[in-house]
Amino acid sequence: MANHSSAAAMVVDETSEARNNARLKIIELANLISVPMSLTAIVRLKVPEAIWSNGSNTPVSAAEILSRLPDAPATADAENLQRLLRVLTSFGVFSEHLDTTSSSSSSTSERRYCLTEVGQTLVSFDESCPSHGAYVLQHHQETLLKAWPFLHTAILDASTEPFARVNGEPAYQYYGKNDELNKNMQYAMSGVSVPYMKALLGSGYDGFEGVKTLVDVGGSSGDCLRMIINKYKDIPKAINFDLPEVVAKAPKIPGITHVGGNMFESVPSGDAIFVKWVLTCFTDEEVITLMRNCNKALPVGGKLICSEPTLPENSDESHRTRALLVADIFIMTTYRAKGKHRTEEEYRQLGLLAGFPKFRVIHVDYFFPVVEFQK
Ligand SMILES: C[S@@+](CC[C@H](N)C(=O)[O-])C[C@H]1O[C@@H](n2cnc3c(N)ncnc32)[C@H](O)[C@@H]1O
Repeated sequence: MANHSSAAAMVVDETSEARNNARLKIIELANLISVPMSLTAIVRLKVPEAIWSNGSNTPVSAAEILSRLPDAPATADAENLQRLLRVLTSFGVFSEHLDTTSSSSSSTSERRYCLTEVGQTLVSFDESCPSHGAYVLQHHQETLLKAWPFLHTAILDASTEPFARVNGEPAYQYYGKNDELNKNMQYAMSGVSVPYMKALLGSGYDGFEGVKTLVDVGGSSGDCLRMIINKYKDIPKAINFDLPEVVAKAPKIPGITHVGGNMFESVPSGDAIFVKWVLTCFTDEEVITLMRNCNKALPVGGKLICSEPTLPENSDESHRTRALLVADIFIMTTYRAKGKHRTEEEYRQLGLLAGFPKFRVIHVDYFFPVVEFQK
């Protein structure tokens, strides 16, 4: 009551520039869900491929895009598609070209769209590998979306993440029992990880040199390991380790042995272990258990090479900080309420607790630096 009456007593000048901007911003924030859902819709409709059209990427109207979509019925609505194209233009996915035709009595405009550099991440340039579109679709499957309205419960009771609260069990267990979710997860990982691995392997990072047995823990379909051994042809032994249900669906890859198991029990031995995008999904206690298992599986001097998102210390408005913070909330909602993006210092401390005295971070990518621990 006291709070209400003091708020009512405050004199707020709604005519001020500051309040005008504040009202605008809060309406934008309240509707931001339109952005990922529009993105999901255009990926589902295969709009990026239709615009890309084997590399032409010339600006096209919404009606022309519809005419290129194999599954669009004659009744498909070009005006509604244009509304999605406009909002995503505002978020940098498309660029818009406005053609105005004037006559003595009237003037008409036509909007045409092509893919920006961001939009092009939604096109697969390699038939064997999906684009980032697979990640967009995986994040917006109904099973995952159902958890979001319960995000507040991760604050009130952090013992259970919203995904498990809504779906009855943790995400990886749930995916493992459902072929489609399992396949979508592997696909999504490939879509993000293959371009990242190209960047990592082209960056001059030298951590895989001289390795004799390389184990990828939580390696999903084995794409990352395949790319590493294709570059380092003198790595004689490569093991892709993941949950039994995941490796059962992984493709056969020459030079790679798939091994199924639970990384919280033990991991296969090697002289280097690669872990990408796994530590983030789990609590500090689980990460220490996993890192100790990796420590046991490595010789003295052996390396645990991780590619994990690392959070900056400041909560600024930069693009990088935002990308890392929004993806951190996805982890809280889907994988563990106390799984998280960590700072470099938090990783250094976890490494010390797990028996890794040496630590370095190599900034090869804005989202996934290499976080390297040595025994
Ligand atoms: C976010 S994905 C990362 C996949 C891959 N490393 C990449 O970056 O493309 C996390 C992976 O950890 C695996 N995982 C989860 N729990 C596991 C467990 N208990 N034992 C082994 N692997 C597990 C998942 O199946 C999944 O493939």
